[in-house]
Amino acid sequence: MSEGQSDIALIGLAVMGQNFILNMNDHGFKVTAYNRTTEKVDRFMANEAAGTNVVGVHSIEEMVKSLKRPRRVMLLVKAGDVVDKFIDAIVPHLEKGDIIIDGGNSEYVDSNRRCKALEEKGILFIGTGVSGGEEGARYGPSLMPGGHPDAWPHVKDIFQACAAKADDEPCCDWVGKEGAGHYVKMVHNGIEYGDMQLCCEAYQLMKDALGMSCKEMSQVFSEWNKGELDSFLIEITRDILAFNDTDGEPLLEKILDKAGQKGTGKWTAISSLSLGMPVTLIGESVFARCLSALKSERTLASKHLQGPAERRYKGDKDEFVEHIRQALYASKIVSYAQGFMLMREASKEFGWELNYPAIALMWRGGCIIRSVFLGNIRDAFKKNPELTNLMLDDFFAAALHRCQESWRIVVSQAALLGIPTPAFSTALAFYDGYRSERLPANLIQAQRDYFGAHTYERLDDPGNYVHTNWTGRGGDVASSTYNA
Ligand SMILES: *[C@@H]1O[C@H](CO)[C@@H](O)[C@H](O)[C@H]1NC(C)=O
Ligand SMILES: *[C@@H]1O[C@H](CO)[C@@H](O)[C@H](O)[C@H]1NC(C)=O
Ligand SMILES: *[C@@H]1O[C@H](CO)[C@@H](O)[C@H](O)[C@H]1NC(C)=O
Repeated sequence: MSEGQSDIALIGLAVMGQNFILNMNDHGFKVTAYNRTTEKVDRFMANEAAGTNVVGVHSIEEMVKSLKRPRRVMLLVKAGDVVDKFIDAIVPHLEKGDIIIDGGNSEYVDSNRRCKALEEKGILFIGTGVSGGEEGARYGPSLMPGGHPDAWPHVKDIFQACAAKADDEPCCDWVGKEGAGHYVKMVHNGIEYGDMQLCCEAYQLMKDALGMSCKEMSQVFSEWNKGELDSFLIEITRDILAFNDTDGEPLLEKILDKAGQKGTGKWTAISSLSLGMPVTLIGESVFARCLSALKSERTLASKHLQGPAERRYKGDKDEFVEHIRQALYASKIVSYAQGFMLMREASKEFGWELNYPAIALMWRGGCIIRSVFLGNIRDAFKKNPELTNLMLDDFFAAALHRCQESWRIVVSQAALLGIPTPAFSTALAFYDGYRSERLPANLIQAQRDYFGAHTYERLDDPGNYVHTNWTGRGGDVASSTYNA
């Protein structure tokens, strides 16, 4: 084996790892492959990697020796303890300035911790989101690297060469410090939950309110995919609706309606609650999956709890389909606006200095939420990197104005027909709340002061917290005084 020749080493030869190695090899990089179970290395070298420039090694020492400096070691292993164990095993063999990249599904808090701990040892850490599945890893994933900024120049060429391309630009750029890459990947997955739920609501409305067949619905999604909704998820929904089982009936209708989840959507919702950001659409999408999982309870309840007698929409079918499309588009704008609100707050909280136009560009291609729409988001943040909210960008504000009437028709009709549309509805409620100068929270403040003497501010005297003797019985002592 030639020492000091490889550009990068990759640990973990599951499918993602193998595919990313082959991807890097295709782009002219010399990659060292290692796996703790070394038969896996030999099998890979004898099969998938046969005839390539990939170097297979049987130990961490050998792996480190094979690398150019600064050494770049990428982990694609199971998230959690395994990552820490590998880092501990590699670090003694590295020198200051060497780079460890974690490309697994790690939680951002772990990446924050690892980045800080490794910095103390002079090792540069990158935590990178990798999206696009096995196919993406092989032919172009969306890569979302964050961590120690000094590491980026040494990884940039490899990552940008191997990433997906959208409009000729690589779907990979520096996200921000520490765990920012894994955080952005988490929000990506949360948004993916939202986009999937929006497709589900459109599907249920067409099926139940309009009585459409899978074939008809597939045609609708096919049309939608030619316009502003053009995206991977709309495209696969078209194909899923058209897919027949062996008996010629749509396979979709035979699938149990109990949704699973691996947790990243839930983490996004948890983070939004901790940071106090109203990321309602992702939250509802996680809850919609939880509700779906209560299949036996729902089956029981379906026999006891009544809805409206009428479940079919009486008006024009094609017109309503167009209303649904516009409701979906407007809801999607709200969902992404909420996602960016969350990332902005996290960036402030953790001091990450997130790169918003780059994030939109990274999601533009390669990943599950890839869409034409993300090109519009990138343009909005390019035009104004300080944009307070996506909904305030001219392009998106105009779209919301154009869609809102249809959106309101869909949400109100769904309520009248008893068809649940948690994502469409919460998005509309958020839109109406966000555009309200005055909300009824004055009543909440009054109630809190009434029962708990929590004090409130007056509109005509902001900044001054006062308490009112509401009942003529209570004292005038504010609760903060009790706590003191
Ligand atoms: C190595 O290979 C084994 C067996 O295929 C696999 O279970 C394991 O996750 C792989 N990864 C690492 C980092 O050892
Ligand atoms: C599925 O079956 C329907 C109805 O029998 C048929 O019209 C349609 O072409 C089939 N789809 C595919 C993809 O073969
Ligand atoms: C609250 O109001 C009642 C009735 O006006 C009064 O008797 C009472 O003294 C007030 N309490 C305080 C703490 O001022």
